[in-house]
Amino acid sequence: MSDASVGPRVELEHTHLASAGKTQLTLEDLAGLQPGVARLMLEVGNRFWRCYHAAKAHNRKLARFQMSEGTKLLRQCVIVRPKYDQDMATFIEQDLGRLRAVIEAEDWDRLDEVFAEMTSSVNRLHDVWDHGFLVWKVPEAPPADLVLEPPTED
Ligand code: HEM
Repeated sequence: MSDASVGPRVELEHTHLASAGKTQLTLEDLAGLQPGVARLMLEVGNRFWRCYHAAKAHNRKLARFQMSEGTKLLRQCVIVRPKYDQDMATFIEQDLGRLRAVIEAEDWDRLDEVFAEMTSSVNRLHDVWDHGFLVWKVPEAPPADLVLEPPTED
């Protein structure tokens, strides 16, 4: 049998292999399969779109949930790209802090103003990080797959 046909390299003492059914993956394979910032950001955009329309419908619980999930994704962006750490922390504390305050106080009259400020911070940061061509905006149409109005017992 030639060297080229010895099969999986399980003989390497410190290689950790994870079974994925039909194949085995190394930690490096698994790391390479993690979503990068661009993929995570699509989900972030989705969450904040849902957050905005939930808040427009005066649904505090739903808006809070969407914002919390979006924030978790932003923190994951820093795990895969630590260079965004400081800007992300400031954005979460300041911009999302203002949005959180609006949602928690059900201060719906301030929603559009605070959301517009947050959106402009997003696009300024895209520009700062050489992605000024990525200009995010909240879709005007609400998501069609969620009931946005709060349940009547709320
Ligand atoms: C609510 C907050 C945010 C939203 C909705 C948002 C939205 C987006 C969207 C839609 C994309 C394009 C994804 C694609 O088409 O593949 C993107 C990319 C990007 N965003 Fe954001 N973003 C947010 C916050 C931030 C913040 C705070 C930073 C920096 C600290 C940032 C940095 C970037 C970068 C660098 C990219 C380019 C992707 C890459 O480098 O792989 N974003 N964002």
